[in-house]
Amino acid sequence: MLKTVVIYGQNHKSSTYHIAHSLAEKIGGDITEYFLPRDFGEFCLGCNTCFFKTADHCPHYAKLQPIIKSLDESDVIILASPVYVYHVTGPMKAFLDHFGNRWMVHCPEESMFKKQGVCICTAAGGGMKSTLKDMVDSLSFWGVARIRKYGKAVMAVNWEGVSDKKKALIDKDMTFLANKIIKNSKNVRASLKTKLLFYCMRFVQRISKNPKDTKYWNDKGWLKDKRPWK
Ligand SMILES: Cc1cc2nc3c(=O)[nH]c(=O)nc-3n(C[C@H](O)[C@H](O)[C@H](O)COP(=O)(O)O)c2cc1C
Repeated sequence: MLKTVVIYGQNHKSSTYHIAHSLAEKIGGDITEYFLPRDFGEFCLGCNTCFFKTADHCPHYAKLQPIIKSLDESDVIILASPVYVYHVTGPMKAFLDHFGNRWMVHCPEESMFKKQGVCICTAAGGGMKSTLKDMVDSLSFWGVARIRKYGKAVMAVNWEGVSDKKKALIDKDMTFLANKIIKNSKNVRASLKTKLLFYCMRFVQRISKNPKDTKYWNDKGWLKDKRPWK
């Protein structure tokens, strides 16, 4: 049974919610959903503690911990946000900032290299490309093995305003995407992009000035012949 976690960059249930939720339902299995800022609404304080100590020293760790646990235990991560002025919503950005220490250049979580990710956004008309990039950048640098993206110009400010024709097309797209994810779940293999990023970051570790990161990579055996996707 697949475990899917969905992080929404908004509290309300409109176009973005309906599309991402329908994908999660079509994938089936266990679904956990978090709405931002309802379930996490803190801004990174820039204390850098997560980079130089450990993530659990973050002043917001207690609030973030249930979401981190869900992410780490999941098979599929869906990040979904409406387009707000060509980018993700403020709450989604604030959430992603809290995972800077998990970027591959620092201490990536090993389980990410066996997960699938999907980034979803909706816009009235434009800005999907830059908004998807906001989310894809994080999943890529977290080490997520396979990342898919879906941006839709719904030509509406809410789900009620979306035409039936568009809703039917979206439904078809989500069925196709869910089937791909289910099929791939039997053997999730790290993409070429994930591997290339890993090898670049591995090189950076050789000249890194952060002893905590170097120790982490050393302990994992990644500076020798171990790889997180194996
Ligand atoms: C503050 C704000 C900024 C927005 N910026 C854009 C934008 O840059 N481009 C665009 O096409 N739509 C923009 N929209 C419209 C929404 O992206 C669009 O209606 C989206 O489908 C809303 O998703 P939701 O129904 O899940 O809330 C904006 C809406 C709001 C409230």
